[in-house]
Amino acid sequence: MSTTQVQDAVREKYGEIARSVGAKGCCGPTACGCGDPITSNLYSNAETAGLPSEAVAVSLGCGNPTALIDLKPGETVLDLGSGGGIDVLLSAKRVGPNGKVYGLDMTDDMLALARENQRKAGATNVEFLKGTIEAIPLPDNSVDVIISNCVINLSADKPRVLREAFRVLKPGGRFAVSDVVVRGEVPDAVRRSMELWVGCVAGALMEDEYRSLLAQAGFEQIDVEPTRVYRTEDAREFLTGNGVDVDAIAPQVDGRFMSAFLRAVKPAQSKTCCGPSCCA
Ligand SMILES: C[S@@+](CC[C@H](N)C(=O)[O-])C[C@H]1O[C@@H](n2cnc3c(N)ncnc32)[C@H](O)[C@@H]1O
Repeated sequence: MSTTQVQDAVREKYGEIARSVGAKGCCGPTACGCGDPITSNLYSNAETAGLPSEAVAVSLGCGNPTALIDLKPGETVLDLGSGGGIDVLLSAKRVGPNGKVYGLDMTDDMLALARENQRKAGATNVEFLKGTIEAIPLPDNSVDVIISNCVINLSADKPRVLREAFRVLKPGGRFAVSDVVVRGEVPDAVRRSMELWVGCVAGALMEDEYRSLLAQAGFEQIDVEPTRVYRTEDAREFLTGNGVDVDAIAPQVDGRFMSAFLRAVKPAQSKTCCGPSCCA
């Protein structure tokens, strides 16, 4: 599928989820995986206590990026694929009134839901932008921290997303992203079934590919920290329902798919610098 076809499919899926939250107040177990092993119990009660219930109900991530990064007052944060805005609103509290948090999403109904959640939360240091993570509508060197929660795996052009993230980060800026990653070799057919379970439309990256694409984009200090490793049992019901013989593929699946926290840093000084004396 082309990048545009993937974007259309993703937009349709997440638009439907956003509309179902608006209609029912909760997205329900089948619509967006509430209560599933990937999206459930990611946030503490203390974190969700002050948030609009709709922002919590439509939490569709696979991690809790703001809990794993040190956000400072006054910083500018960008959330790639901000959905209903849960991580944007949590970041907004951390960077305070002198900071700014942008949420970027391409799905109109998700943006409408996020803006409504912003209004309910009374967050004045937040702005939701319409656009794609493959062409971020922000200037070069304008952001201190990029967060994202289970979105980059949905892109058909991951190298471009990582180049865009690098471009908009200030020198010394930090990339702090939760995403689904594959560890080790998995046969294509098995991988596709697992990706359907995880909700990856475009396919998850292998851990080594992720590291290498981050390095190619220019990032340094790359680190991949597993936060949840999925067992065959987690996916048994879904896979069986899709006609997969789970016991036959168990050895090829068990422990290979994980949610991970990916950290990287844009170097403080450009690599094209001519030397210490002329670039100081
Ligand atoms: C799995 S949800 C995650 C939402 C949010 N990060 C969270 O943790 O609840 C994916 C979100 O990313 C958005 N998205 C997916 N691909 C995108 C792209 N290429 N550009 C912009 N937004 C995208 C979708 O519209 C959806 O709102």
